[in-house]
Amino acid sequence: MEKSVITSYVDQNKERLLNELMDLLRIPSISADSKYKPDMLKTAEAVKQRLIEAGADKAEISATNGFPVVYAEKIIDPSKPTVVVYGHYDVQPADPINLWHSPPFEPVIKKTEEHPDGAIYARGACDDKGQMYMHVKAFELMMKTNTLPCNVKFMIEGEEEVGSPNLGPWIIANKEKLKGDVILISDTSIIANDIPSIDSGLRGLAYMEVEVTGPNRDLHSGVYGGAVANPINILCQLIADCHDENRHITIPGFYDDVLELSANERMELAKAPFDVAAYNKDLDVADVLGEKGYSSIERTGIRPTLDVNGIWGGYTGEGAKTVLPSKAFAKISMRLVPDQGSKKISELFQKHFEKVAPASVKVKVTAHHGGEPVMVSIDSIGYKAASRAMEETYGKKPIPTRSGGSIPIVALFKKELGLDSILFGFGLDSDALHSPNEHYGLFNYYKGIETIPLFYKYFTQLNKK
Ligand code: BES
Ligand code: MN
Ligand code: MN
Repeated sequence: MEKSVITSYVDQNKERLLNELMDLLRIPSISADSKYKPDMLKTAEAVKQRLIEAGADKAEISATNGFPVVYAEKIIDPSKPTVVVYGHYDVQPADPINLWHSPPFEPVIKKTEEHPDGAIYARGACDDKGQMYMHVKAFELMMKTNTLPCNVKFMIEGEEEVGSPNLGPWIIANKEKLKGDVILISDTSIIANDIPSIDSGLRGLAYMEVEVTGPNRDLHSGVYGGAVANPINILCQLIADCHDENRHITIPGFYDDVLELSANERMELAKAPFDVAAYNKDLDVADVLGEKGYSSIERTGIRPTLDVNGIWGGYTGEGAKTVLPSKAFAKISMRLVPDQGSKKISELFQKHFEKVAPASVKVKVTAHHGGEPVMVSIDSIGYKAASRAMEETYGKKPIPTRSGGSIPIVALFKKELGLDSILFGFGLDSDALHSPNEHYGLFNYYKGIETIPLFYKYFTQLNKK
């Protein structure tokens, strides 16, 4: 019954639901670049306004030491369960701009092989404005059709893409307000539009910056080269030595807290379909590469990694300049899995780099933001409700998967609020998150709006039992 109420509401409002999202995507809410501060505040205001229009009793822009959190709620009956929705209104920077086929903040609809019904192209289309906005519209749908079965609270932050530095303190200061039964998040992916899945885990993150200093000034590479340490050469060597011939990470103690999966658990994971030929073709690589003894799915899901995210130093301008540089830099991040801790791994990394560097250079290691890995029990009421909801709208039971990405605040939801998070993502990994030409399928957007109300329904039902 509800299903037809839901689908007809979506059908009747299709154009408006899409246009509203496109309006939101036009505001460049880039949290990393202070130039966009007015746009950030404009976006927060727009989200608050939409939540009020959708039927929230109360909606506010709540200050933090950084960008504000948009908070809203609809309490229908304090004795009923409460779903706390988390999402983020900030987006990644759009660069490199020249690789976009259309301007990143002027959304357009295009049809592709993967999205035959069309996809919206814009920065934030999938991560996370499109997925966050599905929740606002699903809430509107439940309000308008009188089908909201429980209480709902929204916490939409503006700093996820910069590591949520101010959300922790905000949560601790607002524990009472955030009382609820489950956190619901759409900020991850499904396997494919005909293969629904739900993430049962997220990786953590330790993000480091390394500065290697050689001589006190740039030198003529002919006059001094060969006799003085070149910090770029040294840095490259240090980085290369972080992996052995099996692509295991060599930092002492790195794997100490890694939970090994049982043969049975690994067999379960292997049930998720993975077409390596299609994967290679999509990325235009001849082969995949990773830790020996693990499948690609395992390499991104249950194993930790170490990757250079950026490296610079010396002369990078036009033409050639024979210089032996004074400094070299790299940004290096490690994805972590249960039970690794970001603080401990950051320290191991720092000690290791300081120890192995030759005396001919100085090494300075600093830690950027981090986040802890999380696991979601597939036996929880929240997971079961999500699974049932997806099974109903996709006609297939979703597969539990492990995501390679990170949402650092999720571990804090558990620690500070005692709440599990349900990773109810609807995007595709191929939607070019953080890349040029990010997009979000219209199929995915509408499917999300149709599936979310069923989560509320089943979560409320399961809570009664
Ligand atoms: N939504 C992503 C995380 C994600 C994407 C999880 C796809 C699973 C599948 C989130 O916005 C993100 O980009 N997180 C960052 C971490 C942050 C500290 C910048 C990440 O994973 O790099
Ligand atoms: Mn996101
Ligand atoms: Mn992101």
